[in-house]
Amino acid sequence: MLELQDVHSYYGTSHILQGVTFNVPEGKCVALLGRNGAGKTTTIHTISGLVKSKRGTITFKDKQVQALPTHQITRHGIGLVPQGRRIFPSLTIKENLTMPARKGKGNSKAVNWDIDKVYELFPILKERENNMGTQLSGGQQQMLAIGRALMTNPQFLLMDEPSEGLAPVIIDQVGEIVSRLKETGLSILMVEQNISLACQVADEILIMNKGTIVWNGTPDELLENKDIQHKYLGVS
Ligand SMILES: Nc1ncnc2c1ncn2[C@@H]1O[C@H](COP(=O)(O)OP(=O)(O)OP(=O)(O)O)[C@@H](O)[C@H]1O
Ligand SMILES: [Mg+2]
Repeated sequence: MLELQDVHSYYGTSHILQGVTFNVPEGKCVALLGRNGAGKTTTIHTISGLVKSKRGTITFKDKQVQALPTHQITRHGIGLVPQGRRIFPSLTIKENLTMPARKGKGNSKAVNWDIDKVYELFPILKERENNMGTQLSGGQQQMLAIGRALMTNPQFLLMDEPSEGLAPVIIDQVGEIVSRLKETGLSILMVEQNISLACQVADEILIMNKGTIVWNGTPDELLENKDIQHKYLGVS
């Protein structure tokens, strides 16, 4: 459904993505792991059009999207849950959710997201809909960031470290949410540093190091491979 082929991206003269190639099949969740600074967020930003690649192709549903502006990539059905949530602090929960709303074609199983469906998935957001974004806990902010991306009716969701800064019990909830989203037919690329969360929800694992994919395999293969965990993920 989404395919990157030899993608190269730069910040100024810094060559960050150095030939990234992988694909995410429809309805699957692929997790992208790697140390700080490996290029994971740059990969997510390149797919969503916030960073323009200088070489290579990004194909989404048989159409090349690497040259399109961000809003058109969103309109094609790629939603972003950014690292650090990036919710609007001076807006209420409800305003945060309704701002990006887009009437979509829905995904293959035809969930058409609207505010009521987001509130069904996250009842706490309904209870607190008139609170300001900043009045939420980290876990609630993550739910809001996911809900906001769903309001654009994506068929494909990019999630950048959804577990970052969250307590273990909340990380488990994030895992359950991701599994439920997959059941609705969404395809997901999830950047993570939490190996157990990634292995719990993903169908396939990619490891990035210095701007290229250096390993791929199933969650079980990663969990068995202590050398790879040590070499690229800093697990001692
Ligand atoms: N706006 C920017 N300008 C210049 N260099 C940047 C910029 N953003 C990131 N970089 C550099 O690009 C490299 C990759 O950064 P990136 O944010 O993609 O890493 P990451 O894998 O997401 O790391 P983390 O796990 O810490 O979020 C790093 O060396 C970083 O310093
Ligand atoms: Mg990052």
